[in-house]
Amino acid sequence: MARKIDFMIIRPLTVFERETVNSFYLALSPDDRRKRFCCSLSDETISSYVDGLNFTRDTILGAFDEQAQIVGLAELVRGAEASEMAFSVRPDKRGQKIGTMLMERLLSRARMCGARKVFVMFLSDNTPMRRMALRAGMSVQTADGESHAERELLPASAQELTRWFIEEGFAHSGYFSTLGMAQWGSLVDRSASTTCKRIGALAPIG
Ligand SMILES: CC(C)(COP(=O)(O)OP(=O)(O)OC[C@H]1O[C@@H](n2cnc3c(N)ncnc32)[C@H](O)[C@@H]1OP(=O)(O)O)[C@@H](O)C(=O)NCCC(=O)NCCS
Repeated sequence: MARKIDFMIIRPLTVFERETVNSFYLALSPDDRRKRFCCSLSDETISSYVDGLNFTRDTILGAFDEQAQIVGLAELVRGAEASEMAFSVRPDKRGQKIGTMLMERLLSRARMCGARKVFVMFLSDNTPMRRMALRAGMSVQTADGESHAERELLPASAQELTRWFIEEGFAHSGYFSTLGMAQWGSLVDRSASTTCKRIGALAPIG
C-alpha cells in the first residue's frame, strides 16, 4: 500500500502563478489530460483554458513538496447553483493521499466561500477519483461513460471561519519558508561542491 506523503503545503495560487498552472498541465501525458478534462486537449487548448482561469472569483489550490515544487492542483469554479471541482496530481506522486488532502482543503475552502453545493465530473473508469469522491461523502451517478459526483455543503460557523483564516495564513508563510530553505539548501550544496573541487584541485597527487 502507498504511504501517505510526509510533508505537504497546500495553498491557493495567485494570479502571478498562472504559468505554474500552465506548465503543470502541459507536462501531463495525453491520457492524464483526458482523465483531468474528460477529453483530449492540445497544448494550445490547455494554455487558453489556463489563460481564462479567474484567480479572484475561483480557487486554484496548489500542493507543494519539501522542495517547494508543485505536485498537485485542485480547482473550484464558482457557479450560481453549484461549484465545480477538479483535481490533478503529478503522476509520480499519486497514491500518497495528495488528492484526498486537496479534496479536503477544497471542500473546506468552498464552504468558507459560501458555496452550498459542489460537484466533480470524471470518466467512469477513473477509480482513484471515484474513491476520493465517495470518501468525501459525495453521491456518484454514472451515464454514458462519465460520472458526476455531488454533495451539499453546510454553511461555515464563525469559529470555523476564524480557524480557516489563521490556517490560510500559515499555509502561505509555510510555503515561503520552505522555498527559502530549499533555495538556501541548494546554495549551500553548490558552495560546498565548489569548495570540494577547489580542495581537490589543491590536493597533491600520488
Ligand atoms: C484522481 C487523482 C487526483 C487522485 O490523486 P491521488 O493523490 O493519487 O489520490 P489518493 O492517493 O488520495 O487516493 C485516492 C483514492 O484512490 C485510491 N487509489 C489511488 N491510486 C489508485 C489506483 N491506481 N487504483 C485504484 N485506486 C487507487 C486510493 O487508495 C484512495 O482510496 P481510499 O481513500 O479509499 O484508500 C489522480 O489519480 C490524478 O491526478 N488523476 C488524473 C486526473 C484526474 O483523473 N482527475 C479527476 C477528474 S477532475
